Amino acid sequence: MAKTMQVVQYSTFGGGAAALQHAEVPVPTPGKEQVLVKVEAAGVNPVDWKIQQGVFRPIGPAKMPCIPGIDIAGEVVGLGPGVTSFKVGDKVVALLELLKGGSLAEYAVASIKTTAKRPDEISATDAAPLGVGGTTALQTIRDSAGIKFDGSNQVTKNVLITAASGGVGTYAVQLAKLAGVHVTATCGARNIDLVKSLGADEVLDYKTPEGKNLQSPSGKKYDVVLNYSLQPFSSFKPQLAPQGKVIDISGSPKLFLTKAIQIVTCQKQRLVPFFMATNGDDLQFVTNLVKEGKLKTIIDSTYPLSKAEDAWVRCIEGRATGRIVVTMV
Ligand SMILES: NC(=O)c1ccc[n+]([C@@H]2O[C@H](COP(=O)([O-])OP(=O)(O)OC[C@H]3O[C@@H](n4cnc5c(N)ncnc54)[C@H](OP(=O)(O)O)[C@@H]3O)[C@@H](O)[C@H]2O)c1
Repeated sequence: MAKTMQVVQYSTFGGGAAALQHAEVPVPTPGKEQVLVKVEAAGVNPVDWKIQQGVFRPIGPAKMPCIPGIDIAGEVVGLGPGVTSFKVGDKVVALLELLKGGSLAEYAVASIKTTAKRPDEISATDAAPLGVGGTTALQTIRDSAGIKFDGSNQVTKNVLITAASGGVGTYAVQLAKLAGVHVTATCGARNIDLVKSLGADEVLDYKTPEGKNLQSPSGKKYDVVLNYSLQPFSSFKPQLAPQGKVIDISGSPKLFLTKAIQIVTCQKQRLVPFFMATNGDDLQFVTNLVKEGKLKTIIDSTYPLSKAEDAWVRCIEGRATGRIVVTMV
């Protein structure tokens, strides 16, 4: 077992890809109810570079230098005290702690509470993006929008999914269709065929006038908007059903002001702020759907750890189709 490992890290806030440094550091030791994972692939998410920019300052990152990233897939190579649900050799997918990071490394420690078993047939590259992308899509649809997966959707019939071509949206389109709702999706022209192939019933090119006003081609009003493009609430109001809600995943403080105004003025159209909960059960749920052939990962691009800076640049550009992945092996 190696004592040191290659990582990519940063030591100060800001600086983008140029501030990432390659380093050799000790392999971490798993604590209570943690597993040591030999990382095979790591998903690169917009939140990773936002943390580097200081969006959670002063609470995060928990310490510097920081190895960024929270999406990993790999193999268990060590067990901390109290671990009985995993064994050495298990293939897994895991979410690391948001403010600690650790995914751009050859080894990482993950809590068993945020780790799921990965069947052999799901590659690490396909599994790693399930962490943030898959669980965010699942939780926004099931928990925030209240859409059920058992076919009993009485209230929500029509859903708008914006940025349907992104790392979250590509999963959300598929999950919303599994739940049996009508999906209108927005994306750029180059991704219309892809988003249709994922199951969207209607697709709008967000750069056209029709796309900008977000009107469903069939004239449907939306019961729910999954706002993954982080557009302002006001842009959805004209197309929202009278009691419709907009799920907003921006985490912006402005959201809470808008929400407070809505409550005070008794508005029926509602904004629902969302923040992903790291949850091993949800990760297992989406992983199982991939195994059953009901959900697939769309990969934008892969980069070796030695070229993690290029993955970082690609992510900051905001033009990914599906998820960007860094591979370690
Ligand atoms: N609150 C939470 O817990 C949480 C969890 C996960 C993600 N997020 C946030 O959610 C956002 C989306 O995440 P992601 O991983 O899906 O991002 P992403 O993969 O970087 O999204 C990129 C995609 O979005 C498309 N896009 C950009 N602006 C658009 C618009 N106005 N209309 C339609 N499509 C648009 C782009 O299409 P083109 O290339 O054609 O422009 C591209 O395909 C990020 O800001 C992320 O930080 C929050």
